[in-house]
Amino acid sequence: MKNILHIISSARGELSYSNQLSSAILEKLLQQGNINTITVRDLVKDAPPYADEVSIHEFYKHPELYDEQSKHLLSYANRVVDEVREADIIVIGTPMFNLGISTSLKAWLDQLIRAGVTYVFDEQWNRVGQFKGKKVYLAVASGGRSAEGAPDYVSAYIKDVFRNYTGITDVEAYRIEGTMENGFTADYESILKDFNSVTEMP
Ligand SMILES: Cc1cc2nc3c(=O)[nH]c(=O)nc-3n(C[C@H](O)[C@H](O)[C@H](O)COP(=O)(O)O)c2cc1C
Repeated sequence: MKNILHIISSARGELSYSNQLSSAILEKLLQQGNINTITVRDLVKDAPPYADEVSIHEFYKHPELYDEQSKHLLSYANRVVDEVREADIIVIGTPMFNLGISTSLKAWLDQLIRAGVTYVFDEQWNRVGQFKGKKVYLAVASGGRSAEGAPDYVSAYIKDVFRNYTGITDVEAYRIEGTMENGFTADYESILKDFNSVTEMP
């Protein structure tokens, strides 16, 4: 039985295409069964704090040096880490903002990724991700369409950040493009026609 974490990062609620696409992915996963829990984290309603001088100081501390203030300052970050640790599958929705991810998703990642927690260094100073074996589904909505050969910075960034700093290598990206075009209609079934079932997870 799998636990799912659903991350919502568009502020547009039911109008949001990334929210709808990530919900359609969730629906596919539910149809396949074998799902234990679904935790929904809406980063707009429950916004991650921005890293500031004091909290960054706590991030750099060795966990043995944490005090009461550290626990308070790291409470959001620790909950993010716990939720990712407990999830087998993470479904992430994001709008494309200026070729990148949403601000709230970036802030969530900055709360999640931590040396000594999501990755450690081995004796040769190679990073070793601590969350191997999980699966990430990414749902990206963009107002325009990518030009032929143009890099998909959003998917590339999410894949690299999870691989390098958590050890999660299985990131599958789905995109809904052209949402700002006149007369645009969303066809989630065709976007997800080749949806990779979770039963194919390692
Ligand atoms: C601040 C801002 C920046 C945007 N940047 C881009 C962009 O770089 N490329 C693009 O194709 N669409 C861009 N858009 C359009 C959104 O990606 C599009 O409206 C998308 O559907 C938003 O996701 P949502 O429907 O999940 O809210 C931008 C929209 C906003 C508000």
